[in-house]
Amino acid sequence: MRPRENEKTGPITHFLMEDHRRLDTLLQSAVAHADHVDQGAYTQFRAGLLRHIGMEEKILLPAAKRLRGGEPLLIAAKLRLDHGAIATLLIPTPTVAIIARIRGILKDHNTIEEGPGGLYETCDELAGSEAAQLLAKLQAAPEVTVLPHSDTPAVMNGVRRALERAGYDFHEDNT
Ligand SMILES: [Fe+2]
Ligand SMILES: [Fe+2]
Repeated sequence: MRPRENEKTGPITHFLMEDHRRLDTLLQSAVAHADHVDQGAYTQFRAGLLRHIGMEEKILLPAAKRLRGGEPLLIAAKLRLDHGAIATLLIPTPTVAIIARIRGILKDHNTIEEGPGGLYETCDELAGSEAAQLLAKLQAAPEVTVLPHSDTPAVMNGVRRALERAGYDFHEDNT
């Protein structure tokens, strides 16, 4: 990254983009072997992504709303629906198809958050002098307790509903 661009990157953008990169690397490790999912890497990815979503849902989006005088960001509703879809996809045992679906959603979702005028840049601008304080809150976000995987019909129905609500297709055979 060139210095001029670096200077423009605010602390919230920098911190959460780094977290995206870290989670991408974990997910890549989880699928590094074509014949099986690396459970250790996937467990770290799952816990890390749930914590990341928690930071955005419980700290960042509420802060943005407060800083806008109670008016939520226009992209907040779409981001929350994506988070719901992603979080439910983390419940079943990971298959290649489920992981492909998570990666597909994250690719566009992260672009919306990281891009020019996206969630992170907007939050850095809104926070202004409060940015360091907000960053400290994000950094202090608690670890998430991850439950065992579940593949019951109720869970798979929940996955289908969450994907549909967020505007994604659901294919019974390969998610
Ligand atoms: Fe997000
Ligand atoms: Fe994010």
